[in-house]
Amino acid sequence: MAQSNDRPRILVTGGAGFIGSHTTVALYEAGFHPVVVDDLRNSREDVVAGMERIIGAPVEWHRADCGNSEAMAPVFSQPVAGAIHFAADKAVGESVEHPEKYFDNNIGGTARFVAMLREHHVPHLVFSSSCTVYGEASQLPVSETSPILPAESPYGYTKQACEQLLWNAHAAAKGQLGVAILRYFNPIGAHPSAEIGELPLGPPANLVPFLTQAVAGHRGPLTVFGEDYPTADGTCVRDYLHVCDLAEAHVAALNWLEGAKGELDTFNLGTGEGSSVKEVIASFEEATGEKVPHQMGDRRAGDVTAIYANPIKAKEKLGWATKRSLKTCLADAWHWQQRLSQS
Ligand code: UD1
Repeated sequence: MAQSNDRPRILVTGGAGFIGSHTTVALYEAGFHPVVVDDLRNSREDVVAGMERIIGAPVEWHRADCGNSEAMAPVFSQPVAGAIHFAADKAVGESVEHPEKYFDNNIGGTARFVAMLREHHVPHLVFSSSCTVYGEASQLPVSETSPILPAESPYGYTKQACEQLLWNAHAAAKGQLGVAILRYFNPIGAHPSAEIGELPLGPPANLVPFLTQAVAGHRGPLTVFGEDYPTADGTCVRDYLHVCDLAEAHVAALNWLEGAKGELDTFNLGTGEGSSVKEVIASFEEATGEKVPHQMGDRRAGDVTAIYANPIKAKEKLGWATKRSLKTCLADAWHWQQRLSQS
């Protein structure tokens, strides 16, 4: 592998984002040299300082759009052992309003970045996909062989299209590019140090950051989007996993790629357990002792009723499984919110 200070250099696009920053820390702790590439369109520079405080060392980072080959030239000026591609827009609702933005940044950006990887003979790519590719699954839990149904949102479609692109690029590279496609379920929580966490700019679209901001009094009550779904309590069911567990899966995927010799494979990353929105609220209250101000509301466009993972393949092939409980996730998210509220 390409080395820097005896550590393999791994590009992390979107490395100042929520999952990217936790993965950067996990990579460093596992002996890699992470190279953060982020144009800060949806993050802030102080995330880098938070990562540096955790690892106690400087983080190499480049403020660059990973889809811009000129801006990426300095990143590729030294050999690269692998890449993890997170950089993308990710708000389901926004993608319904502004599909062009999602097609351009998520699909176009990935196509341009993959072309650079091939040009620079980078042997390994880990791609940030999503359980959204399954659409409204008819059988639960979903496994990697479950059907890819029509996407419920433009965001979901971009993940499906990027997966297809990677199959084609992998075939074209004829064994020179190994690819791990990781389908995340719902990552939440924050690093236990509360140095890094989810940092939504503007009103959060996702459940847990909205919930913690509502509890902290920065927002009005949380609206539960729909209580007439065909689930046990009427609210949507998701598979919530701790972002630090998810970060460790990327290290496991890189290690798998190192032995896989140019293969492509796809992995579900979840706990295997579904929790409803009401269960998340109750669990948060138990974990923190705080009351969640909330109200019932209408369904949100683009939401599926229920989805959770069959995570067996990741356990068998990557040796990875989640370790942290839902309560730990929510306690860590609250700890992070309290830190943000003070700053
Ligand atoms: C979706 C994708 C997920 C992706 C994420 C990125 C699906 C099935 N999942 O997650 O893969 O990583 O977007 O943003 O497409 N909720 C409320 N009130 C709120 C916010 C959310 O009730 O204010 C509910 C939603 O209706 C949903 C659950 O909370 O049932 C989780 O929502 P959210 O955190 O936004 O994630 P998903 O939409 O499930």
